[in-house]
Amino acid sequence: MTSHHHQSVMFDESITGLAIKDNGIYIDATFGRGGHTQGILNKLGNEGKVMAFDQDITAIDYAKAHFKDGRLEVIHSAFSNMYHLLNERNLLGKVDGILMDLGVSSPQLDNAQRGFSFNADGPLDMRMNQTSGISAAEWLATASETEIADVIYKFGEERKSRHIATAIKRFQENAPLETTLQLANIVASVVRKKKNKHPATRTFQAIRIFINQELQQLSDTLEQTLNLLAPMGRLSIISFHSIEDRIVKQFIQKYSQQKQLPKGLPIMQGENEQMPLKNLGKFFASTAEIDNSRRSRSAILRIAQRTTKVC
Ligand SMILES: C[S@@+](CC[C@H](N)C(=O)[O-])C[C@H]1O[C@@H](n2cnc3c(N)ncnc32)[C@H](O)[C@@H]1O
Repeated sequence: MTSHHHQSVMFDESITGLAIKDNGIYIDATFGRGGHTQGILNKLGNEGKVMAFDQDITAIDYAKAHFKDGRLEVIHSAFSNMYHLLNERNLLGKVDGILMDLGVSSPQLDNAQRGFSFNADGPLDMRMNQTSGISAAEWLATASETEIADVIYKFGEERKSRHIATAIKRFQENAPLETTLQLANIVASVVRKKKNKHPATRTFQAIRIFINQELQQLSDTLEQTLNLLAPMGRLSIISFHSIEDRIVKQFIQKYSQQKQLPKGLPIMQGENEQMPLKNLGKFFASTAEIDNSRRSRSAILRIAQRTTKVC
């Protein structure tokens, strides 16, 4: 058994949630360094298959260098291309489980050159896929004060969003805003320091979500999974903040809850229809894991199962 999973968040719970079938077909939407992918491979038989996506080329290069397994296909793409790529392979309705471990990986955070960290100085990039789109610095240079404030409020739930946007524009009157520490210091000048939390945490999260269109990616892809999963196929999704989790929660509710019929109406046979998903619950990291990894503190795992209802 190979072990790549030393840092994978909620590893056991998310893999158990997939209820892996010996020769099933699985998707790891967020390869990262392949901890969860390896967990799936370890439970799969010889005829099983894993397709792993990542939009970061460094994750794909890592997979090619470290994962020599004929059952694994790695795909350099945003996971929102899942439907398209599986359709091409004639696999719609045949996938036994899809795992998503959202957000950025530790190697992305730890490499100052990627621009995700407010603790180390580097170019203000923040793109997971550095081959397309614009960097955070480019966006901040052209966006208006209102646009910046709206992003920081909407995706960071930061109450001081307007003050931060004003401070950013004021800074840019004198010098270009190009590095992570410049941004971190601007935010720290207007947001009071909280215990255990850097004042720029919410601002960095918000700009990262916006630059990578993370919420749009997530909701588009969740809708696609209904047409990808086989009957009884599982969804195992780990999110790291309330905005992300709300999208996953509302998606599962939308497709698993019966519409409430007005009381007293006679129910015809067949009317109490089955829904496409069954909600199998919400889980948090164990205290042991939380003690070992700060990141797992905010993790929320949701598991759902596809029923036989055609969408
Ligand atoms: C938290 S890490 C995954 C860690 C992985 N589960 C492991 O055990 O090593 C998230 C990864 O998903 C990738 N990612 C995030 N959003 C993506 C998207 N929309 N499409 C493809 N990859 C994405 C990131 O580049 C990152 O490498």
